[in-house]
Amino acid sequence: MFQSLKEQPADKILALMQKYKEDPRDSKIDLGVGVYKNAEGLTPVMRAVKTAEQQLWERETTKSYVGLVGDPQFSDVMVDLVLSDSVARGNVAAAATPGGTGAVRQAFELLKMANPDVRVFVSDPTWPNHLSILKYLDLPVVPYRYFDSETRGVDFAGMMEDLADARSGDVILLHGCCHNPTGANLNMSQWQEVVDFLNTSGATPMIDIAYQGFGDGLQEDAAGTRLVASSVPETVIAASCSKNFGIYRERTGLLMVVSQDATAKGLNQSTLAFLNRQNFSFPPDHGARLVTMVLSDPALRADWAAELEEVRLGMLDLRTQLASELQRLSGSDRFGFLAQHRGMFSRLGASAEHVEKLRADHAVYMVGDSRMNIAGLNSATVPILAQAIIDAGI
Ligand code: LMR
Repeated sequence: MFQSLKEQPADKILALMQKYKEDPRDSKIDLGVGVYKNAEGLTPVMRAVKTAEQQLWERETTKSYVGLVGDPQFSDVMVDLVLSDSVARGNVAAAATPGGTGAVRQAFELLKMANPDVRVFVSDPTWPNHLSILKYLDLPVVPYRYFDSETRGVDFAGMMEDLADARSGDVILLHGCCHNPTGANLNMSQWQEVVDFLNTSGATPMIDIAYQGFGDGLQEDAAGTRLVASSVPETVIAASCSKNFGIYRERTGLLMVVSQDATAKGLNQSTLAFLNRQNFSFPPDHGARLVTMVLSDPALRADWAAELEEVRLGMLDLRTQLASELQRLSGSDRFGFLAQHRGMFSRLGASAEHVEKLRADHAVYMVGDSRMNIAGLNSATVPILAQAIIDAGI
């Protein structure tokens, strides 16, 4: 029977990861998949996470099931991390999921259950897996303009013009911070305009927040999400712990649905539990438990926040180094946007041919749309990349 299967398109980011692995050149530079790397090119286990893991090894007495939506304490600490006191905890339904991707997938399924005719407005561009999952679930996608290829900033006028078509029953997918793949983000007055539009149109926001703490800081990166959640009747939020806790392979995420009262929350909560049961039953516990331990122990939390801040500042520093090296080599400010972007990624704005040339001639790997993972650089490779960009004629 399986002869009838059709080859599925390979995920571009994962295919690039494989290509990089197979490249024998010693000089190769990996700016592909969104994984943080330190100056030595390693993705370390964060100090507080390691300590929590040691404590857990000592204290854990059972591996029995926890609950369909995970440990309520995990939901509590994560709702607090993302939303702080912007909404009443009693109005937030939450379920642990396998990673942020699991939360995104469950969110889309929830939207489909709530409205089989839902249209999902997505930024152009967005994380390719958003589109892939939406297609798999057969949900109509409406792209909205987002990235200005001239300024490499947000095309906010274009965005609002395209969103004008959204109405009640539609969903607008937003990136909470550190937009993937562009690195260009809304400022707070733009978030406010989006909120005003959501309230007049009745469209429902869904926010994917996968990089909290990688942009302007833990609180700053959640400010847009908090503003939306506190200002509109319903908000869906998919949060990932992969990046800010460095626990990629533990698959740790949380899906939240913010509503206006406890009755609506009850129905949302039981639907999230139902969805988990249908898809994978109980969510993974290990990563969620580590996050809970780190966030509920003041010393571990402080150490984690300090290390995350080192990571964030390191990426900002690399951005500044790259922008100034390119300014020196090109004699122009046309790469200044690299220092303005925030998070792990920047879209360089180079053509597919240029990206291929960088790979073939310079062993520089970035995603085909010219998304670069800034954390893939270090002080030694910044000048090499800058020279390669100039040599490739970008
Ligand atoms: C990325 O965008 O590179 C990351 O979110 C990893 C992934 O799963 O694609």
